[in-house]
Amino acid sequence: MKIWIINGPNLNLLGTREPDIYGHETLDTINRRIQTYLIDKKHMYEFYQSNSEGALIDKIQEAREENVDGIVFNPAAYTHYSYALHDAVKAVSIPTVEVHLSAIHSREAFRKESVIAPACIGQVSGFGSNGYLLGVQALEHHLSEEKQK
Ligand code: DQA
Repeated sequence: MKIWIINGPNLNLLGTREPDIYGHETLDTINRRIQTYLIDKKHMYEFYQSNSEGALIDKIQEAREENVDGIVFNPAAYTHYSYALHDAVKAVSIPTVEVHLSAIHSREAFRKESVIAPACIGQVSGFGSNGYLLGVQALEHHLSEEKQK
């Protein structure tokens, strides 16, 4: 399977960004852990992070051209207001799992809503960096069920 892991704004600062909420691991450290799993499972993969909405949209569009099977996506703050990213996920029809390190439903009111989740097959929130791995496993499960249909 071909799986892309896409991260949105400010997640390049993981490790130093509000560590009490987002943990002490850097994005590189997290990605390396996911990479070990992806290699072990013989998946093809790519990691991508951008602080800009347009670049994230371009990357999601590129995923369709590259025949990506599934996306694990942490849209960060765009989660809460980017209809453009919602539309991009819908447009490419690639099964996407939304991931958040923090438990967005038990934080500030503005974080409770995700405008992207309705375009996704599901959401993982509140399990720290393990959420990315859970997202990959959810995709594996989803894709193998789709194959059996
Ligand atoms: C986040 C939650 C968002 O509300 C926030 O804007 C982020 C990170 C998370 O992973 O917990 O940047 O997506």
